[in-house]
Amino acid sequence: MLEAESLRVVYGEHAALDDASLSVGSGEIVAVVGRSGSGKSTLLHCLAGMVRPSAGRVTLGGMRVDTATDDELSELRRSRFGFVFQFGELVPELSLLENVSLPLRFAGVSRRDARRRSEAVLAELGIGELASRLPGQVSGGQAQRAAVARALVHSPSVVFADEPTGALDTHSGETVLAALGSLARNRGASVVLVTHDSRVADLADRVVQVIDGRVVSSETAR
Ligand SMILES: Nc1ncnc2c1ncn2[C@@H]1O[C@H](COP(=O)(O)OP(=O)(O)OP(=O)(O)O)[C@@H](O)[C@H]1O
Ligand SMILES: [Mg+2]
Repeated sequence: MLEAESLRVVYGEHAALDDASLSVGSGEIVAVVGRSGSGKSTLLHCLAGMVRPSAGRVTLGGMRVDTATDDELSELRRSRFGFVFQFGELVPELSLLENVSLPLRFAGVSRRDARRRSEAVLAELGIGELASRLPGQVSGGQAQRAAVARALVHSPSVVFADEPTGALDTHSGETVLAALGSLARNRGASVVLVTHDSRVADLADRVVQVIDGRVVSSETAR
């Protein structure tokens, strides 16, 4: 469904990606691991159309992502992609409920429906009773769960998560990964998850490793 073929990204003299290929199936959860600086974030950014490779191609269900126009990319972000980053980047002035509602509101869903659907997702992730709190009034793990809810509330085809548990302790990290996994499975979303967290193996359908800008399947890497 989401396909990266022979991507190359060069910064100065250094190739951040060099002939990197990855194919993500519909509803598949793929974990991307590898050392710092190996090219994981660059790969994710290419898949999401945030970085344009100098060679290779990215397609989503046959549509070119790497050569998409700004309008096409905005539309992809609005309707088919969801994102979770290391620091959830919730809007601090908005409640968890309002944060989660944002993608729905951008997609033209009415305030009432957006509210109802957002409440349901927050409840599904066990933070329904925190819906009216601001991000600064909940724990890091609870805020990341809200970020997961926001990434999935509009039922995107693919969710990109870059170190979503990077700023959390072990226990909170586990809850966030579990939330991401269950919500993605319930909604049939594919997930590309960059992580240092070794427990992803339990969650992911497949673990791939990035070594020096190339994607190596974990089986081959071992
Ligand atoms: N905007 C940029 N300008 C210059 N070099 C960059 C840029 N982004 C990434 N790089 C370089 O490209 C390489 C891959 O970076 P990338 O961020 O993809 O690594 P990573 O695997 O995500 O690392 P980490 O685990 O530390 O997040 C690194 O050598 C990095 O320094
Ligand atoms: Mg990174």
